[in-house]
Amino acid sequence: MTSPLHTELCDLLGCRWPVVQTGMGWVAEPELVAAVCNAGGFGFLAAATIPPREVAAAIERTRALSDRPFGVNFLMDAPGADVISDAIIEHGVRAAGYNRAPDASLIRRLKDAGVVCMPTCGAPKHAVKAERLGADAIIVQGAEGGGHTGTVPTSLLVSQCADAVSVPIVAAGGFRDGRGLVAALALGAKGIAMGTRFLLTRESPVPDATVERYLEAEVDDVVVSRALDGLPQRMIRNELLRELERRGAPGRLWLAFRSALALRRETGASLLELLRSGLAMRRHERLTRAQVLMAANAPMLARTAMTDGDPVHGYLPSGTVTGVIEDRPTCAELLARIVEEAETTLKALGR
Ligand SMILES: Cc1cc2nc3c(=O)[nH]c(=O)nc-3n(C[C@H](O)[C@H](O)[C@H](O)COP(=O)(O)O)c2cc1C
Repeated sequence: MTSPLHTELCDLLGCRWPVVQTGMGWVAEPELVAAVCNAGGFGFLAAATIPPREVAAAIERTRALSDRPFGVNFLMDAPGADVISDAIIEHGVRAAGYNRAPDASLIRRLKDAGVVCMPTCGAPKHAVKAERLGADAIIVQGAEGGGHTGTVPTSLLVSQCADAVSVPIVAAGGFRDGRGLVAALALGAKGIAMGTRFLLTRESPVPDATVERYLEAEVDDVVVSRALDGLPQRMIRNELLRELERRGAPGRLWLAFRSALALRRETGASLLELLRSGLAMRRHERLTRAQVLMAANAPMLARTAMTDGDPVHGYLPSGTVTGVIEDRPTCAELLARIVEEAETTLKALGR
């Protein structure tokens, strides 16, 4: 008999369990993605923080570590989105993840090449639009989720979106265990997607000093603030956030300028390309000039925490769920635990 945990999402993605690891800049690197896929889940490589011309090499590195299918998550309105799409298609990557500013012609190209298109949305109307543009499955992230986030709680958003679209919904924002997986299935989702929980695994590349900050944080330490880039971001309140909240406009502008220069160095994008991308963001997402100017803060200050291991001066994007996570299992241990707990919960409900 097939397990009730084997959903249509598993068939779509070619994974054993309906558990997705989301794209997290500087975190979702080949080692983590491969470990998730080898454990029976489905991982997304975070290409938004890899120079576009190096994405093909990261795909090859992931493939060398796992023969399981995986996905690539990227920003469709950033410089080099076409280069990343080419790499996804040429290397036969199973799925493409994206969120803001979906590009209809890029989606068409990916779909024509047989790539599963799986955007992330934070509101029912965005899910409806994503389906119209060709999404094969949609991750819906509720307000509890880490990083850029919306206002609708996961418990409300998932059933709303499941009713609004006909493609499979994957619930994100606040998941960590088997009971959560069963709850998501009950709400109409076909699986769960987790960011923070996978950041806190053995195969995550995040240095110990930063991991400690996440493990120590209580639910109340995780807040939503616009101080980083003008958009609501869920993160752990640390020294950087307190400093940003204290600074006036000139201090924030200076930080944004330094982040933009760092992003330019990191991605190899020209000033003209960055300007074009900024204008596209402003158009698609109705951002203010200040929000466009601050757009490089999140990726560059996240690197300080995630790669340099400095949780004091770096940005700590995090779901509320970090407040109830206290260990750092391997991905195989985590997946086995989630599946066992979900099966036990289903049995208990059946009784
Ligand atoms: C450390 C961290 C980095 C993230 N980076 C990105 C990113 O680069 N792009 C993106 O679309 N979402 C990013 N997110 C959001 C996650 O992909 C995911 O939607 C979210 O973490 C789900 O909520 P959870 O943390 O409660 O599981 C990030 C989240 C975290 C915690």
